[in-house]
Amino acid sequence: MTIFAKKQSTMQEEALQSGLRAVIGKAAAFIVKERESFTPDQVEAKEGVANLVTYVDREAEKILVEGLGKLLPGSGFIAEEGDEVNSSADYRWIIDPIDGTTNFIHGLPVFCISVALQYKEESILGAIYDISRDEYFSAFKGKGAFLNDRRIQVTNCERMADALIATGFASNRFGSVHDFLAVFLELMESTHGVRRIGSAAIDLAWLACGRVDAFYEGGLSPWDVAAGALLVEEAGGKVSDFAGTDNFVFGKQIVSTNGRLHAALLDVLHRYLPA
Ligand code: IPD
Ligand code: CA
Repeated sequence: MTIFAKKQSTMQEEALQSGLRAVIGKAAAFIVKERESFTPDQVEAKEGVANLVTYVDREAEKILVEGLGKLLPGSGFIAEEGDEVNSSADYRWIIDPIDGTTNFIHGLPVFCISVALQYKEESILGAIYDISRDEYFSAFKGKGAFLNDRRIQVTNCERMADALIATGFASNRFGSVHDFLAVFLELMESTHGVRRIGSAAIDLAWLACGRVDAFYEGGLSPWDVAAGALLVEEAGGKVSDFAGTDNFVFGKQIVSTNGRLHAALLDVLHRYLPA
C-alpha cells in the first residue's frame, strides 16, 4: 500500500517516517526534561480520581501537533488532550502525548508517546516511543513493523496455557468491572499470567515484538490503540473488537493477539462480557 503516487512514494514514505521520528524525539526531550522537576501538585483529575493529566501531557501534545502539521500540511488531528482540528481530513493524526500518564506521574518508567496517521480512516503509519527504554516502535501499512529499525513479529504461541496476557482497566468506566475481573481470574488460572502494564500503547507494542502473546481491554480511546493496532497487524498479529469485527480504533473494545490465540481469547471474553 502506498499513500502517495507510485513514483517517489518510497522516498516520501521515508521522509514522513523520519520526520515523524524527529517530531516525536522533540516531544520526548521535553517530557524527559520536565520529568526531573515535575511534582505531584501539578496533577489534575479530568474525571473521577484516576483519569489524570498534567501540563507535561498538554505541552507535549502541542509540540506534536505543531510539528506534524508542518510535516503534512492540511492534515487533521484527534489528540487526547483536546486538540481536535480538521478531524475529518483525508490525512489525520491520532495522538496520545503520554500514554501511561498515571505511571508517568508516579515515576513508573512505563509510558510512551503514541502517534498514528490515518488516510481516509485507515491507519497507514504508527509509531510508539517508549522513552524510558529508548525503544522506538514503528509500522507502515504493508511494510512490516520495527523496533529501533529491527523487524519484529508476534509470537508463535499456540496454546492459552503457554501464553502471557496483558490487559488494562479503564480509569473512569467501572460499570462492568466485575465481568472484567471474572475474565481476569479465568485467564490467571489458565495461562502463564496476566499483566496490567498501565499503557495500552505499550501493551500493543510489546505484543507486536513478542513479549506478550495477547492483549484485551474495554473503554479505550482511539489515541490509546490506533498506532499499536497497526504495529500488531504489521507484525503478523490480529486485532478486533470483542465481537471479532474491525471496529477497534473508535469502538472502545480491543482484542489483540498473535492470531493463533484470537478465537480462544474471544471465547473467554464472550463467556463474561456482551460482545
Ligand atoms: C490509559 C492507559 C492505560 C489504560 C487506560 C488508559 P492514558 O491511557 O492506556 O493502560 O488502562 O484505560 O486511559 O490516560 O495514560 O493516556
Ligand atoms: Ca494520555
